[in-house]
Amino acid sequence: MTKNLSYKERENALRIRIEAHKKYSTNPLDKWLEINLNLKEGGYLLDLGCGTGNFFPIYADKLQNNGLIVGVEKELSLIKGAQSLNLLTPKILLNMDMDGYWPFTEGTFDYVISTFAIYYVDSSKKVLENIYKILKKRGEILLIGPSVNNAIELYDFNHDLFGIKHTEEAMERSKRLKDEFYPLIKQLFGEVTYSLIDNKVVFPNKFEFIEYYRATPLFEGSCEINKYKPQYKEMLEAVQAESPIITKEMSVVWGRK
Ligand SMILES: C[S@@+](CC[C@H](N)C(=O)[O-])C[C@H]1O[C@@H](n2cnc3c(N)ncnc32)[C@H](O)[C@@H]1O
Repeated sequence: MTKNLSYKERENALRIRIEAHKKYSTNPLDKWLEINLNLKEGGYLLDLGCGTGNFFPIYADKLQNNGLIVGVEKELSLIKGAQSLNLLTPKILLNMDMDGYWPFTEGTFDYVISTFAIYYVDSSKKVLENIYKILKKRGEILLIGPSVNNAIELYDFNHDLFGIKHTEEAMERSKRLKDEFYPLIKQLFGEVTYSLIDNKVVFPNKFEFIEYYRATPLFEGSCEINKYKPQYKEMLEAVQAESPIITKEMSVVWGRK
């Protein structure tokens, strides 16, 4: 990978997007994880790019009080949100960059999970080799993120406003789980699967849609490229539907060592 795909996440923007996903998704990821994620009681789990610990309560419910959650996050302001969560499972939070040094002993974790984060790293190969090392024998990796069909309606809207559908970075990130991580995981791990989670975010009105759009890396990137920030009124007038819908299809890569 030559392009810099990193992104500085802001606490408020992340909170807005998480809230919208939770409230308006037809198939919210938290529900999907509750049903589909098999974690054994007492398991040790590493969450890479954990942000505010959005899914920690789901993990804790499964790992119980003899398990462990370790969260890795490069933005200190976000870690504070995760730190304040009151969970049954003990947790350790590390202000760490996945592209930097990994301070873990080999064979420590039963699970390494990353939701909507791993595709921001510089080197998928280095990160996956690190994950492989710190997983126990038969340990599992689960990566979830956008598919190429993710946010297509948002790209059309972005085109109406800025004359560009998406930034190159946004497109690259959406392709990465399937085109880059999945083949590498197949080389390293024993059992591996790739699948899609079908989901749409149905906004109740234009205002909620605009709030969401303004909280995306796509909007920030487009403002930067065009050296221009559209007025709120202009954005509102550009929305066609009364209840805008965004496709939020997700890629899921799972592997067992
Ligand atoms: C879209 S947020 C997702 C947060 C959380 N996993 C969730 O699903 O709610 C992406 C997170 O990954 C973090 N991140 C991005 N690149 C990172 C890196 N190289 N090392 C550690 N964290 C990173 C960001 O700071 C951000 O908190």
